[in-house]
Amino acid sequence: MSRRRLALAAVALLAGCGDSDVATRREALGADPTLAARLAVADARHGARLFRQCAACHTIGVGAGDRDGPNLRGAMGAPVAGVSARFGYTAALRAHGGRWTDEAMDDWLADPAAVAPGTAMRFRGVRDPLDRADLIAYLYQQRVGAR
Ligand code: HEC
Repeated sequence: MSRRRLALAAVALLAGCGDSDVATRREALGADPTLAARLAVADARHGARLFRQCAACHTIGVGAGDRDGPNLRGAMGAPVAGVSARFGYTAALRAHGGRWTDEAMDDWLADPAAVAPGTAMRFRGVRDPLDRADLIAYLYQQRVGAR
C-alpha cells in the first residue's frame, strides 16, 4: 500500500465512517441490542450514506420540494403524516396519529407496510437494527434550523 493510500485509510478509520467501524460497533452491541443502546452508538454520517436509498423518493434539504414521498426535514419529533405541509398523505398514514418518536421511527423504517397497512411508501424496510439507528441519528441531525 502506498503512503497516500495508507494515510487515506487511517483518515477513514479515524473519521469512523469505514465499514470496519460498523463491524466494531455491531460487535460491541452484541445480539439483540435495545433501541437506546443502538442510538447511543449511532453514527449520523453512516446514516447519511444510508439515506441514499431514501433519496429516490425523499428530499431532506431546507425548503426542498416533495417527490414521490414528502420532504423529510425535521422529521424527528414532528407529527406523523405532518412532516411536509404540502404533501398529500394516505389515509393509512394519517390514521397512525402521534409523533415521530425514536420508537415509532424505528418500527416504521423496519417495515412501513406493517406499521401503516396501505401506505404509499413502497419500500421493503431496513432490516439491520444498527442501520436504522444510524438513519435516525441522521434524521435528528437534519432538523429544522440546522444547515
Ligand atoms: C419508493 C419511494 C420511497 C422510498 C424509497 C422511501 N420512502 Fe419514505 N415515504 C414514501 C411515501 C410515498 C411516503 C408517504 C406515505 C403515505 O402517505 O402513506 C413516505 C413517508 C415517509 C415518512 C413519513 C413522513 C411524515 O410526514 O410522517 C418517513 C419518516 C419516511 N418516509 C422515511 C423514509 C426513509 C428514512 C427512507 C429510506 C430508508 C424512505 N422513507 C424510503 C416513499 C418512499
